[in-house]
Amino acid sequence: MKKFENKVWLSTPTMHGEELKYVKEAYDTNWMSTIGENINEIEKQMSEKVGCKYAVALSCGTSALHMAVKLAGVAPKDKVFCSDMTFAATVNPVVYEKAEPVFIDTEYESWNMDPKCLEKAFSIYPNVKTVVVANLYGTPAKLSEICEIAQKHGACVIEDAAESLGATYNGKQTGSFGKYNIISFNGNKIITGSSGGMLLTDDEQAAAKVRKWSTQSRESAPWYQHEELGYNYRMSNVIAGVVRGQIPHLEEHIALKKAIFERYAKGFSDLPVSMNPFDPQKAVPNFWLSCLLINEEAMCRQTRSDKNCEFVSKKGKTCPDEILSALAEHNAEGRPIWKPMHMQPIFSHCEFVSLGDKDVGADIFNRGLCLPSDIKMTQDQQDAIIEIVRSCFK
Ligand SMILES: Cc1ncc(COP(=O)(O)O)c(C=O)c1O
Repeated sequence: MKKFENKVWLSTPTMHGEELKYVKEAYDTNWMSTIGENINEIEKQMSEKVGCKYAVALSCGTSALHMAVKLAGVAPKDKVFCSDMTFAATVNPVVYEKAEPVFIDTEYESWNMDPKCLEKAFSIYPNVKTVVVANLYGTPAKLSEICEIAQKHGACVIEDAAESLGATYNGKQTGSFGKYNIISFNGNKIITGSSGGMLLTDDEQAAAKVRKWSTQSRESAPWYQHEELGYNYRMSNVIAGVVRGQIPHLEEHIALKKAIFERYAKGFSDLPVSMNPFDPQKAVPNFWLSCLLINEEAMCRQTRSDKNCEFVSKKGKTCPDEILSALAEHNAEGRPIWKPMHMQPIFSHCEFVSLGDKDVGADIFNRGLCLPSDIKMTQDQQDAIIEIVRSCFK
């Protein structure tokens, strides 16, 4: 098979034209700052879409998570229950506050935090007051169940919906389940501002605090008066212009991502693999990334050290690293599954709660991979990707 002339990407920004109009408006009216109509407008539109009363536009999803962790009152040495198989940004803000993440293992059903493990974690640490749950690759976690468990134990939920904007669980938008919720407009997300993020909450005072903290915590006084630690975390009105131009295209992006997922599912239906799973009765993902899990019996030998990987090809079998190399050879971008946090050297001292001896996150990391999911990928290109993957099983 020939190499793709133009690289087929995992997930890149897709612009439509309106973005430039709003950016130009910011320029022409000189609102080249962290105040302006684009910011006001996207806060309004996103709070309506997600179904939270208040939205605060921030520089990125990570700063939004940092604000959420502060709102939850997380203090040094506190333990915080966190999703384990996720991007490190879900967890880093817990450490910014000098608290200790306790990683909760993943379930096979959604590839997200396992509610049974969360229950177990509360039986070990009944005094934990904060849970940070992420929705991986656009698939909602069992959010109703997780919120119920947290509530039973008097804990506050922070929902990291960075990857799942537009997805729903039990008919409710992700990013609205937690007391404090975040979304991201990073360049690879379902809609983007090139960067940017947002905190969403129903708590008016919390939203006001974030507005204050994210603009250096100025008190209302004639001079620069400070009583609390401040941050420079507010979104720029220029970035907000890009987001404003993208919002009308959210559903269209989701439909394209879904079509990609379904074409892969069909193309691999006779292979010993499964796609990233969800419960069709409860979850409607935004299909941000299409992923593959290779059945155990179809795995060839794959060895991963901290920074390198090796595999031994075998007829009829393959492994993620073989497929990723085949994709790279053809100028297409795939990616390993997020390496679970409990396997990361920086978090090796942190506790990890799993059920029995099974380490689900490590298993999915070992057998899974993310496929090119860019919505500008043509059907022909996707057919070729499917062929490349299929050839690895020959
Ligand atoms: C699960 C998850 N959480 C948080 C973030 C952080 O968002 P940002 O890059 O906007 O800081 C990302 C993405 O980058 C993410 O994938």
